[in-house]
Amino acid sequence: MKEVTRRGFIASAAFAAAGGSAAEANEATVPQDPFLGTRGQALEVGVPCLQAAGETTMGVSWAVSGLSKGEVEYADNPGMVNSMRQRCGGYGLVPIDTSALQVRLTGLRPSTRYWYRTITTPFTDYANIYDAKLGEPIVSDIHSFTTLGCGVKSHFCMICDTHAQWKSYQLISAKLKELSPAAVVWNGDATNTTQKKSTAVKIFLNPPITDSDWMSDIPMMFESGNHDFRGSWISRKEEVVLPRDPAERSSGQWDLKWNFAVRIGDIAAIGMDTGEDKPDSHPKWFGLANFTPYRQAQAKWLEDQLSRPDIASAKHKILFCHIPLFAAQDSAAYPHDGVAVDPHDFAHWSRECSELWGPLIDRCGINLVVCGHQHRFRYDPPSQGRKWAQVVGGGPNLASKDKSLFPTVVEGFVEDSGGMRLRVHNVESGIVTLDTILL
Ligand SMILES: [Fe+2]
Ligand SMILES: [Fe+2]
Repeated sequence: MKEVTRRGFIASAAFAAAGGSAAEANEATVPQDPFLGTRGQALEVGVPCLQAAGETTMGVSWAVSGLSKGEVEYADNPGMVNSMRQRCGGYGLVPIDTSALQVRLTGLRPSTRYWYRTITTPFTDYANIYDAKLGEPIVSDIHSFTTLGCGVKSHFCMICDTHAQWKSYQLISAKLKELSPAAVVWNGDATNTTQKKSTAVKIFLNPPITDSDWMSDIPMMFESGNHDFRGSWISRKEEVVLPRDPAERSSGQWDLKWNFAVRIGDIAAIGMDTGEDKPDSHPKWFGLANFTPYRQAQAKWLEDQLSRPDIASAKHKILFCHIPLFAAQDSAAYPHDGVAVDPHDFAHWSRECSELWGPLIDRCGINLVVCGHQHRFRYDPPSQGRKWAQVVGGGPNLASKDKSLFPTVVEGFVEDSGGMRLRVHNVESGIVTLDTILL
C-alpha cells in the first residue's frame, strides 16, 4: 500500500510504474470508456470532503480521475489504533466510480473527534468482473473531524452563491479556515448550469483554489439554491454531494434528501430547500418543476423537527434556506415573490415558502433565518409581526461598481452571556459589515 502525504490530486503507483510524465502515460492511451478501467493512466485522488454532517454520521466524498473503489479508515485517536473501515455505499454491491467516491460513516458518537483517511484503489482493467485487475491503493493524509451535537462549540458559518467564481470562493475559503467554525452551511447556488458530472466534481470536490482544504476538516451541510436545479446532469447531484442519511427521516419524507436539523452546541441548525425561484408552471421549466409539493412536504417535516426535544430545547434556532422568506413591502424586492410569472423573471423572495413555513417559524421560536440568492447583503431585524431576524449573504461579485455587491461569510456564535453574535464578513474588503447580538 502506498502512503501519500501531499495534498491535492496525487499520482498513483500506475503512473510511477510507467516511469514517465503523466502526459506521456496519457499519450500512450487512446480515448476509451473510463468504466473499462484506468488502463495505464495515472489515477489522481482528491482530498476528502466532509459532507452531510450529522451528530452520529459523517459523509466523506472525494474526486478520482479513473475507475476505482474507495473506503474510509477511521478511529477515535490520531494514531488510528483500533481503526475501523467503511466502504462506499450500503448493503450489497459496493459502488465504484470514475470521478467521485462517497462513504458515509454511521454509528459515530455525537460531539466526538475522529481521525480518518481515505483509501482508493484503481481498477486498472475491468473488461468484466472475472478478469478485473486492481492497482495499488492510494492512502490519503490523516484528517480529523468532530461530529455535531450539543457538546460542540456553538459556532457556524454560512456561505452562499459561490457560483463557481474561483476568486471570490478563494476569499471565502480563506475566511472559513481563519474562523474555523464547528460546521459550515453551504446555502445554495454553488453551481450555475450543470451539464456534466465533471463540473459538479470540480465545484464541490476539487475546486481550483488553494484554500479549499477546510473541506477535509470542517463538516459541511449543503442546501440547494435555484441554480442547483439547473442543467441536464443536475438531477444526479447526489452522486457528488452526499444526501442526508436516510435514517434521519421518516418513510413519508423519503424524498427530502437534503433537509437537516442538527445541534451545533446551543444552536439548533435547520436546513430547508426553497427550490426554484419561479413558479412550477413557468414555461422555462418544460414541465420539469415540482417544487410546490416539495415545499408543502417540508412544512410537515419542519413541524416534526421542531417538536424534537433536542431541537425544541435549543436556546437559538436558526433556519438556513437559499431564497429569502421576507421582503419589506416598501422595498423594490417585494413584488418579485416567485408566485406568478414575473416580468423581471427573477424572484427576490419566496412568498410560498414564507406562507407555508412562516407560522411555524414564528410559533416555534426560530430567531434567525439565514439566506442567500440576492447576491447582496441584507439584514432585517425582528419587527412588529415578525419575531425573527433575516440575514442575506452576498454573491460572487468582486470589484463591483455597485459597492453593495460583495462576497460574504455569515458567522454566528453563542457568547458566554448566552446571546448569539451574528457577524457578516465582507471577504473582499475584510470589513465586518454586520456585528449584532441576537438574544
Ligand atoms: Fe445566486
Ligand atoms: Fe439563487
